[in-house]
Amino acid sequence: MLLINKTLTVASLMIFPMILIIVSLFGGRMVSQRKVQQESLSKLSDLIQENLSGISAIKIYAQEDAEKKEFNKYNTVYRNSAIKLARTASTLFPLLQGISSISLLILLSLGTSQLENGFITIGGLVALILFVERLVFPTALLGFTLNTFQLGQVSLDRVEEIFQNIPKIVDKPNAKFLRKKVHGSIEAKNLKIRYEGSKFNSLNGLNFKINPGELVAIVGPVGCGKTTLAKSLGRTIEIPDGQLYLDKTDIKNIKLSELRKHIAIVPQEAFLFTSTISDNLKFGEPKASKNTVKKSAINAGLIDDINSFPEGFKTIVGERGITLSGGQRQRTALGRAFLVNASVVVLDDALASVDNKTAAIIIEEMRENKNKTILMISHQLSVAATCNRVLVMDKGEIIQEGIHKDLIRTEGLYKKLWEREIATNQIANKNF
Ligand SMILES: Nc1ncnc2c1ncn2[C@@H]1O[C@H](COP(=O)(O)OP(=O)(O)OP(=O)(O)O)[C@@H](O)[C@H]1O
Ligand SMILES: [Mg+2]
Repeated sequence: MLLINKTLTVASLMIFPMILIIVSLFGGRMVSQRKVQQESLSKLSDLIQENLSGISAIKIYAQEDAEKKEFNKYNTVYRNSAIKLARTASTLFPLLQGISSISLLILLSLGTSQLENGFITIGGLVALILFVERLVFPTALLGFTLNTFQLGQVSLDRVEEIFQNIPKIVDKPNAKFLRKKVHGSIEAKNLKIRYEGSKFNSLNGLNFKINPGELVAIVGPVGCGKTTLAKSLGRTIEIPDGQLYLDKTDIKNIKLSELRKHIAIVPQEAFLFTSTISDNLKFGEPKASKNTVKKSAINAGLIDDINSFPEGFKTIVGERGITLSGGQRQRTALGRAFLVNASVVVLDDALASVDNKTAAIIIEEMRENKNKTILMISHQLSVAATCNRVLVMDKGEIIQEGIHKDLIRTEGLYKKLWEREIATNQIANKNF
């Protein structure tokens, strides 16, 4: 353009910095409006998701209208932000077109006199007009690109935050595998755990020794640290060095994958995947044979339930499959733990939703299986009564230890809990 005619080029391009300014002004506004829109959409979908999963609670407490109001509130914010964004965009584009026409006007009005005076040829003027028209779009685009870049940066930062998150519980550099044959002895030496931000120790100097193949019950009041102990054994929470041992090896020095292969934990809340019951059972050992899966179902007292399912082992369970009862879920998780070749199995209140008769059958199976060390965390002392040994916990410490028969004759927490359980059962029997 400069080669054709300097004056006309400068005059017609004078308006271009204005395009950049306007685009960046509007663009900034569009970025923040889009952010608001995205955030309100995210809140809205969170609400919908929560409402759908909590639909029965909403119905039971007749809160449909309140939830509708809540939905309307978020939806209005979302709609308004979308309208605002659309308004900004629809003001900006005509404005840009208008401004670019100004440069065309300048070109035409100055160009004609230059043409008259012979400073430019008709071809030169037409070329300039075409160039100017072609320049408007890229200039506006440049402004938009800068804004998009900013917006992208905001999103990228949020993604980076997740990518940069370094897992806290990792293998030590010299972490090792265990010997081929794992016996399954467990020892705690003054085990202390304090959760981040907590004012007290959830485990406050725990000491115990469990021999290979033992079936040990761990009982204690609500919040005394039983689950914390289970988590420490699988190292799903971080534990201090030299306080917890598997086969005389500090758990902290064992490779995490190796540790979790040898210690199977059945959590308090059983999680099932949307898949067949068979897949759920062999989750830890996907290559397990049909027979092994069946055996684990028998050991977990689940076989009769499975036989009654519409498609037996192939029945889809989980969120999008058939709904299992609390007890069935727990026993599925139990079967999953029995199926893997772990030397230690930790049951965190895993028989709580299982009726007494079924629980007794499952425990009998476990007592016969001397290859596994089993830690049975339980609220029910009737369950503890069937174990080889009982550890009684209170406030993060083990305060009593022994066999059920002796413990109920010794003054202490266990005796109290036992008497309470008997009294509760008697009341229940009287009333029904
Ligand atoms: N993630 C956490 N952050 C902070 N404190 C926690 C956390 N998890 C548990 N605690 C606290 O640690 C203590 C022990 O909790 P834990 O879950 O081990 O008890 P529990 O014996 O398993 O109880 P329950 O019988 O109800 O299952 C409780 O006081 C609890 O509030
Ligand atoms: Mg617990």
